[in-house]
Amino acid sequence: MCGIVAYIGSREAYPILIKGLERLEYRGYDSAGVALLQSEIKVFKKSGKVQELKDYASKYDTSGNIGIGHTRWATHGEPNEVNAHPHFSSDNKIALIHNGIIENYAVLKEELVKRGYEFHSETDTEVLVHLIEEVQKNTKLSLFDAVRVALNEVTGAYAIVVLSEDNPQQLIAARKGSPLVIGMGKDEFFVASDATPIIEYTNNVVYVDDEEVVLIDLKDGLSIKTIANQEKTPYVQELEMKLETLEKGGYEHFMLKEIYEQPRSIYDSMRGRIDSKRGDIYLGGMLEYKNILTQANRIIFTACGTSWHAALVAEYLFEDIARVPVEVEYASEFRYRNPVINQGDVVIAISQSGETADTLAAIELAKQKGATVLGVCNVVGSSIPRATHAGAYTHAGPEIGVASTKAFTAQVTVLTQMALWLGYTKGTINQAKLARYLVELEAIPSKVEEALKTDVEVEKMARIIADSENALYLGRGYNFPVALEGALKLKEISYIHAEGYPAAEMKHGPIALIDENMPVVVLATKNAQYEKMISNIQEVKARKGKVFAIVTKGDVAVKEMADRWIEIPDCPEELSPLISSIPLQLLSYHVALMRGCNVDQPRNLAKSVTVE
Ligand code: G6P
Repeated sequence: MCGIVAYIGSREAYPILIKGLERLEYRGYDSAGVALLQSEIKVFKKSGKVQELKDYASKYDTSGNIGIGHTRWATHGEPNEVNAHPHFSSDNKIALIHNGIIENYAVLKEELVKRGYEFHSETDTEVLVHLIEEVQKNTKLSLFDAVRVALNEVTGAYAIVVLSEDNPQQLIAARKGSPLVIGMGKDEFFVASDATPIIEYTNNVVYVDDEEVVLIDLKDGLSIKTIANQEKTPYVQELEMKLETLEKGGYEHFMLKEIYEQPRSIYDSMRGRIDSKRGDIYLGGMLEYKNILTQANRIIFTACGTSWHAALVAEYLFEDIARVPVEVEYASEFRYRNPVINQGDVVIAISQSGETADTLAAIELAKQKGATVLGVCNVVGSSIPRATHAGAYTHAGPEIGVASTKAFTAQVTVLTQMALWLGYTKGTINQAKLARYLVELEAIPSKVEEALKTDVEVEKMARIIADSENALYLGRGYNFPVALEGALKLKEISYIHAEGYPAAEMKHGPIALIDENMPVVVLATKNAQYEKMISNIQEVKARKGKVFAIVTKGDVAVKEMADRWIEIPDCPEELSPLISSIPLQLLSYHVALMRGCNVDQPRNLAKSVTVE
């Protein structure tokens, strides 16, 4: 988490840093700070959002052509001004920003304190800047080499940028486990946690690799060394991101914009991959591993948060369509419990950001144990696609709202195609069946469009739910993961305690919670378990629970029982999560708005979780 941004060149740095921090605010918004190089380093820090920093700094001179900025998601130490980055060397001549966690900071701190260093914050980060200072003092190395040597002492994860008064033509950046990208302008350079602060200035970027230290020198350009002092050649890549995708485009919130983008993002996630007329499906990343995939003994999906819910949908899809045993694992559990992984196993990691620390660690573990690891990620060039053997990108475009919406449906779209490809390649579905699925898949974007038209009705439903303190979401089969995701959306952004449950399991516990105050959102679309679902709804009604139903267009039976209902278009059960999740996203959005919550930046959360 935490967002870092830096600039060196001939423009005014401050506006670039502030705009960059606003773009990166999804990574954390506990405090923000910038340091600018004027005749000496000037620093501005504020707890809270970037806006607070902006208001505060507007009273001061913010000139300067070189600077660093940080938006924080607190790990070590409260989110106050003292703990806000940048942090400084004892003589205030070196400023440093950091994203990640220095795991051995306590040991390092003890040693530095013994050597006379004074610490002002409770952060792990401050250790880094004093460590660099200490190395420089003892070795007389250049700042670049001092940073490199200091990083050899560190365990944990970091992306850092260092600014020094004595090196006014330079910035130094380094990475291990936390993302970092350098924008290459003409006689100017940008550094950021992702490409979003860079895209309006240049399309040319260098992704920094783990254990690389980068010297950005206005005169000599870019040079890279590993922390072990090996020279590396910078590899410049072109960004494909479009600037408009980073703006709200007339919507009140990014989340709403992203919900409404889904017909397009789902379409983009299938574009060029399926041909319903020929009954053909093409997934480049899978082809290379065709033999391994078709012979896999089992597939283990690993992910966190919403991506884990997409993995649960994949479990149904892959077992149904490709007849392969599937397990779904929280990456954070998987990585620590010595899982049994054999050579014939395939692990598929799912991640919007491609940076989630637990998911990355799970991938490393699976690779060590000999599994073939695929990735399903949204952010091009992020760490997970680089750590996996192969994979398929979702093409949802940048997702900025912290609560994931379009990334989820894009993941499900890609996972559906993977399951179809595998089923067809293995022969568990024939070409005619594949072609029928593909026709249905192609129809999904327009059905999602139709589902979005329920917004007005969903808003009415939201008005009733908005005052609740609890909510239950029930679904069976493919609708079960959708129920989990619906409940997660509600709790994330409206702070209502919500539980998702398989409808049939309700009688084993949660039914005790049901009374006239408990809203129960039921996913009761036409599927194999529709009749069973009706019985579950009756169980809720018998206990005076309020039923809010998502039903298939033309439904009669559930509508008669429900207090309110939303009709969505019919589609094959296997594809239904792509549609039934839409009204639930809208529901959480409206409820959160009605409760006065910050929809795009819910409290305590961050979009990209690069710490354990
Ligand atoms: C955070 C976000 C969630 C996301 C999860 C996994 O908790 O707030 O929305 O689902 O991380 O992120 P990933 O980028 O790996 O999908």
